[in-house]
Amino acid sequence: MTSAAGHQTLNAKDFVDQLVREIHELFAQLGEHETLEAESDGQMDVVPLLKLALTSELEAAEIAAFWLPDTADIEAKTILAEQCSDELRHYNLIMSRLKELGEDMSGFDPLAEGYSPLFHYLRTLQSTEERIAAGPFACEAVAEVRNAQFIDFCRSVEDEETAQLYEQVIHPEEIHHHRRGREYLEKVATTPEIQERIRNAARSSLAIADELQILTEKSTGLHNIPLS
Ligand SMILES: [Fe+2]
Ligand SMILES: [Fe+2]
Repeated sequence: MTSAAGHQTLNAKDFVDQLVREIHELFAQLGEHETLEAESDGQMDVVPLLKLALTSELEAAEIAAFWLPDTADIEAKTILAEQCSDELRHYNLIMSRLKELGEDMSGFDPLAEGYSPLFHYLRTLQSTEERIAAGPFACEAVAEVRNAQFIDFCRSVEDEETAQLYEQVIHPEEIHHHRRGREYLEKVATTPEIQERIRNAARSSLAIADELQILTEKSTGLHNIPLS
């Protein structure tokens, strides 16, 4: 059976497996691009990267909270509530680490430049499957890859404590968010129409997240930007 867009209809599990493979292929290409980039140098770069991470954590918490009231499905609601709590905890952990690194964070506004294009896109999503596909499933898959790169970066500039904060707490929890999203989609992606919505939402959020990363790199010169 073939859907309107020409995709073969798969069962929910196979469909999600295929989407995960697509994401991994995309990341493999991005990885090649990144290794061509100049390496960031100097301990100083950890601080601005952590400040960018604060914005990402806050947006992730807020979008999950924004979706919560009109998400009827209790499992999806639970995923969003858990994510909201985790992302805000990450925010506070990163804030503490910045203070330990000697930063004066009084008056710091993580949204001084407004919400990101990704946040605005996510706000438009209406169905539960699109929200879970774009948020926990796709954005957290990006976070998994970016944070692994960030941990390596922290070690390269000998910031072991920040590396451990990510390796032991933040990184495993972002992976958990992605897994929860994936398991949910494996249950609900049962029709060609739902699969199409999931595929489009995941692809769109990945494209916007990647575009955003490139723009941030251009404007700040920073690489390995950690995500929520
Ligand atoms: Fe997360
Ligand atoms: Fe997070």
